[in-house]
Amino acid sequence: MNRRHFIKSASATGAGLLLLKSSTLFGQNTPSKKLNIALIGVWGRGLAHYEGLKKENVVALCDVNELRFPNALKEFPGAKTYTDWRKCIDQKGLDAVVICTADHTHAHAAMWAMNRDLHVYCEKPIGMTVEEVRTLRATYLSKRNKIATQAGTQRHAMPNFDRVKELVRDGAIGDLRGAFAWGNRELPRPGYLPLEGEPPATFHYDLWLGPSPHHPYNPGYFSGNAGANCLQWNMYWDFGTGQVGDMGNHTMDLVWNAIDATHPTAIEAKGEALNPDVTPVKLEAHFDHPANSWRGPIRVSWYQGGALPTSPKRWIDLKTLGHGGMFKGSKGILLAEFNSRMIIPTDDKIDFAGYKPRTEDTVTPPLGNFQEQWFRACKTDLKTSCNFDYNGLMTEQMALGLVAYRAGKRLEYDGKTGRITNAPEANALLGRKYRDGWPLNG
Ligand SMILES: NC(=O)c1ccc[n+]([C@@H]2O[C@H](COP(=O)([O-])OP(=O)(O)OC[C@H]3O[C@@H](n4cnc5c(N)ncnc54)[C@H](O)[C@@H]3O)[C@@H](O)[C@H]2O)c1
Repeated sequence: MNRRHFIKSASATGAGLLLLKSSTLFGQNTPSKKLNIALIGVWGRGLAHYEGLKKENVVALCDVNELRFPNALKEFPGAKTYTDWRKCIDQKGLDAVVICTADHTHAHAAMWAMNRDLHVYCEKPIGMTVEEVRTLRATYLSKRNKIATQAGTQRHAMPNFDRVKELVRDGAIGDLRGAFAWGNRELPRPGYLPLEGEPPATFHYDLWLGPSPHHPYNPGYFSGNAGANCLQWNMYWDFGTGQVGDMGNHTMDLVWNAIDATHPTAIEAKGEALNPDVTPVKLEAHFDHPANSWRGPIRVSWYQGGALPTSPKRWIDLKTLGHGGMFKGSKGILLAEFNSRMIIPTDDKIDFAGYKPRTEDTVTPPLGNFQEQWFRACKTDLKTSCNFDYNGLMTEQMALGLVAYRAGKRLEYDGKTGRITNAPEANALLGRKYRDGWPLNG
């Protein structure tokens, strides 16, 4: 009897409450057990997961492009193949899913999987709208004693993320006053691609569209290299959130990891003129976060596509830091990229004497391999660094930036209820409509 079956039959006998806890203990005793995993989206980003997945049991492969199966089956012989993930996740005996599909199906596949008590690794961004991300986070929080989740922001495992966090939290730049993140990727497009040809019989375009409204087929959406094809579709409103959900999910993570924030109370954004088809290339969004136990209120800002914060010094060109973060403190400014960091004192009289750098034994231990952290969590303590609570709050903040951009005004936000309080009409921008057959909560 496998673990999942064991829990199910035990709950049926009325011992559910007791067994929810013991299921975790059960896991703790079996770190060497292999997970039965479904890989959804087997090419592109999916390929980056093969090495780790080969150490587990990949029992199901799902892709809308049947031509991707032969190669995947060489790596995972014996796995059942599917073109519709809604059927795939109902395969008996699954423990977990890895979701590497296009962004507009992430929240759906992740929700359906969590509803079946499956562990979830979902590529970033885990959802496109505020409503999607809030639903994912709430569902995860209600099941955190049963399932492990990880958002695919693997750069989080770079040691610099924790070095930056330690500097901010240990007071190296004094009291934190503000934080900034930016990215320089620019992928302008005029609008959705026009109809061109027919999808090949082996490509299930309607399943690719999934919950999103219909747009004519064009092979241009699928013309990119492995792992970079997302740059052919993620700028369109119905398929992605542009750089907000792309590099923004990695780069804001460098800041988010350090600032211990929850929901913003107010959001303002501006960018180029609104295009109903395409997300903005150039955008800046500002989020007011209330004080917490160790810092005062701060404003967090995101810039993309050529927009940048003001450089702390005339001789520092922030453009040279393609994807970067900056923290302003009462004593200094911390500039960071994914791999390195530096501190600039705010003026010559600053005294850093009160700050004690950490020693080798007091630094945060390395996270190790990001994907393996999730495998281990599924089998043992369910603890991951980028679960849907941590990443969900960050992704909600970023999605709110696009809501404020579309609303064209400063928005006040109640994080408890997930409602905009000063502009009721803007609440309509918190979600999106789905085609029949594709409910978020399936
Ligand atoms: N973490 C990272 O550093 C990183 C890097 C690249 C991409 N990504 C993310 O990975 C995801 C995929 O990006 P990509 O460039 O590989 O895209 P892609 O268009 O190449 O899609 C990847 C695979 O998923 C399949 N697929 C798409 N929709 C599907 C569906 N509904 N059901 C089943 N299969 C489906 C495609 O046919 C393809 O084989 C994106 O969300 C992107 O943001 C993350």
